[in-house]
Amino acid sequence: MQFEMEFEEVILRRRSVRSFEDREVEDIILKKIVDHASRAPSGGNLQHWEFIAVKNKELIEKIANTTFSGNVTTAAPQAWIKTAPIIIVVCYTPRSVFARYGEWGKVGGILGMGAAIENLLLSAVNYGLGACWIAGFRPEGVAALLKLPRGVEPISLVPVGYPKSVPQPPPKLPVDQIFTIMA
Ligand SMILES: Cc1cc2nc3c(=O)[nH]c(=O)nc-3n(C[C@H](O)[C@H](O)[C@H](O)COP(=O)(O)O)c2cc1C
Repeated sequence: MQFEMEFEEVILRRRSVRSFEDREVEDIILKKIVDHASRAPSGGNLQHWEFIAVKNKELIEKIANTTFSGNVTTAAPQAWIKTAPIIIVVCYTPRSVFARYGEWGKVGGILGMGAAIENLLLSAVNYGLGACWIAGFRPEGVAALLKLPRGVEPISLVPVGYPKSVPQPPPKLPVDQIFTIMA
């Protein structure tokens, strides 16, 4: 549990990890990374999210079967997801956002979800875990499998586990190309 890194190391070491060891992740660590996710900023501090960690292998397989490769929703599932020991289902609970912000909430709520998911990914790195942000899935399929009530919308899946291999960093844009200082 006392596995901690320098903040910059965490940022630089985060990769989308898609292969995992057959090794359990302690619940206390899962709780930590979800707690860190939930400390992300959200419009009005509404914290419009819920997280479900799925460990059941059959359920993981069924959830993986709701995913698709590429951008066609009927394409083959992303089969590697079945090898994850855990899938964290990140759910958006937009009711409070729409009640407070109306139309604007459509964008604001999603921005907040992104902040929470990135916190989750970075916290996972800090505990030596690997994870990958998955948006290529059919949310209604996951909602049915988990019997989610109306208003709890799966927005992303995050397979998590100890990495079997960490991929080489993909090229990232040099900061000078994406950043301007206007003095
Ligand atoms: C909104 C979003 C959706 C993504 N969906 C998927 C996905 O469905 N499957 C997948 O393997 N990776 C997915 N990724 C991960 C990206 O492919 C990955 O972040 C990108 O290739 C850069 O690699 P890196 O995360 O190692 O820096 C997604 C990332 C984001 C932000």
